[in-house]
Amino acid sequence: MKTNRLSEKMTAILNSQVTEEAFASQIYLSYASWASGEGYTGIAKFLFRHAEEERNHMTKILEYILNRGAKVSISAIAPPPKNPTDICDCFEKIFNHEVKNTTAIYAVVKKSMEEEDWATWNFMQWFVKEQTEEESFAMGLLDKIKIAGKDKASSNTLYLIDKDLEHTNGELTAAQDVTATKP
Ligand code: FEO
Repeated sequence: MKTNRLSEKMTAILNSQVTEEAFASQIYLSYASWASGEGYTGIAKFLFRHAEEERNHMTKILEYILNRGAKVSISAIAPPPKNPTDICDCFEKIFNHEVKNTTAIYAVVKKSMEEEDWATWNFMQWFVKEQTEEESFAMGLLDKIKIAGKDKASSNTLYLIDKDLEHTNGELTAAQDVTATKP
């Protein structure tokens, strides 16, 4: 009896998104480590927390594939890009990466529409909402640094931004709903 409820193409694109989310986590880990080394402990903490959220996104998709009776295939993760040159560059890179990830999410949604796989379409709506929130938050980070004077921001202002982000969850309410054990 055939119990797999995902097409081959849908399984492939979802598995590819598992890798994308793992890659996103590596990027945040890498930038967090860079920020910590530069002395931005607040920003580093925020980025480390976000790396964890990306892992949760990865697990959420992985479990969906399994729950639909399909096979998960774990692929190699590409190395993260080089370190940012400064905080402004860091926030710009984060925003650009989130936009890229949104494009990948939309590709999965588009595929689900083409296949009339409404279960996957419905599942992916959580990610569509999440990406909207993540892009908004990244835009907010960029606005903060632009107001502060971009790469000419004073060390005092950077200190305040760093403090501000220390306890920020990123206002990512959708991501806060999930944990590594309960994705
Ligand atoms: Fe999993 Fe930042 O999107």
